[in-house]
Formats: sequence, C-alpha cells, structure tokens
Amino acid sequence: MTGTPLQTAILISGSGTNLQAFIDRVAEGALALEISVVFSNRPDAFGLERARRAGIPTAVIEHGAFPDRESFDRAVAAELDRYAPELIVLAGFMRILSPWFVAHYRGRILNIHPALLPKYPGLDTHQRALDAGDEWHGSTVHFVTEELDGGPRILQGRLRIFPGETADELQHRVQAIEHRIYPEAAGLVGAGRVAFRDGETWIDGRRAAEPMIRTFD
Ligand code: GRF
Repeated sequence: MTGTPLQTAILISGSGTNLQAFIDRVAEGALALEISVVFSNRPDAFGLERARRAGIPTAVIEHGAFPDRESFDRAVAAELDRYAPELIVLAGFMRILSPWFVAHYRGRILNIHPALLPKYPGLDTHQRALDAGDEWHGSTVHFVTEELDGGPRILQGRLRIFPGETADELQHRVQAIEHRIYPEAAGLVGAGRVAFRDGETWIDGRRAAEPMIRTFD
C-alpha cells in the first residue's frame, strides 16, 4: 500500500494476546497499520502493559462510572477520536457496543470471535462446539454491526477437533489461529482489499457472501 498506514485503535479488556500479535506483525513490517492507541475499560488489563512496552499510547476509562452503555461509549469515542482512528480493532473487548458507537464508526470496526460464525455467537463457544460433536471449530474475523457477533464475516481460521479434546485444549489451539488470521484480515482492510459496503463484506471488489477460510492443523 502507499501513503500513511491506516490509523488503528485496538480495544481490549484483558490479556491482549491478539493485541500482541498485531504489535509483533507491525514491528516485523508485515502489517501496514499504525497502532495509534490501545484502549481498555479495565485499568488492570495486561494488554496495557504490552502496549506500553511497545511505546504505544494507552487510554483507560472504566465503564462502572457511567449510567448507561451509550454515555460510556461516547466517552470512549471522544478519547479515541483524539487519534483520528480509521479502523477500530476489538481484541477481547468485553463490552457490548451501543448502536451509537457502531454508527459512529460504521464499517470500520473489526471483531474476532472464537467460533465458526454463524455458529455459537456469545460465550462458551469451545464447550458448545464439543457438546455438539462438531468436526470443525475455529475463529471468525468480522465487521461489527448492531447484531452481537452477527456482522458480515471476513476471514475464518478452522481446525479439526481432536477426539477427546477438552475445551481448554481447544481454546489454546483456536487462540493460536486467531493470532494469524486477525492481523491478516486487518491488513487486507488496511490495504483496501476488504471493505464494508451496503452492510456486506466486499473482497477484491466483489460482494462476498462467504468468508475466506484458512485451514490449520
Ligand atoms: C479471543 O479469544 C477473542 O476471540 C475473544 O476474546 C479473546 C481475547 O483474547 N473475542 P486476548 O485478550 O487477545 O488474549
């Protein structure tokens, strides 16, 4: 890509291993984004430490002090907008976004969800895949809309569930996949190859009803 890299805000609530994957890819020169700010709703999120070590500005606003979801989201956006972000990456940000926030950054918010959406939106995805006896499981990068875990999909990483595998083991394998597919998907957005248009994902100028799929061991 040419010009300045896409200004990107990464939102976290916890450990931030996906954030670390972004930091590492950018440092290697393998991802043409600039991480302008890392935001957390929790001051103790370890991901903030990862950002500080990488010299990335951080911001924290605790949601508990706000009377409702939208007033918190407006405060978050006011903070983020100081950095004029062009892309918002949700990386383990454990807050449901208000319609106001989604509209404010319409088509510019990415999320990663540890399931092969539309299967298993919400929590406990690994156990639910095991309980269902699924052959495949994985993770999905998608654009964020007002529907929880329901926005148009971009890229899925999938793996075969091993016989006798536990939810913990599965979670570790899925997380390793996330560290590959999330920076990849964001890079495609940054390069202009993937876009959100008319409520759908477009890949290389074509409407994509199905996400791209990568298969892992
Ligand atoms: C990831 O598994 C992601 O799918 C989910 O939250 C988790 C974040 O993990 N949305 P980390 O904080 O990036 O380690």
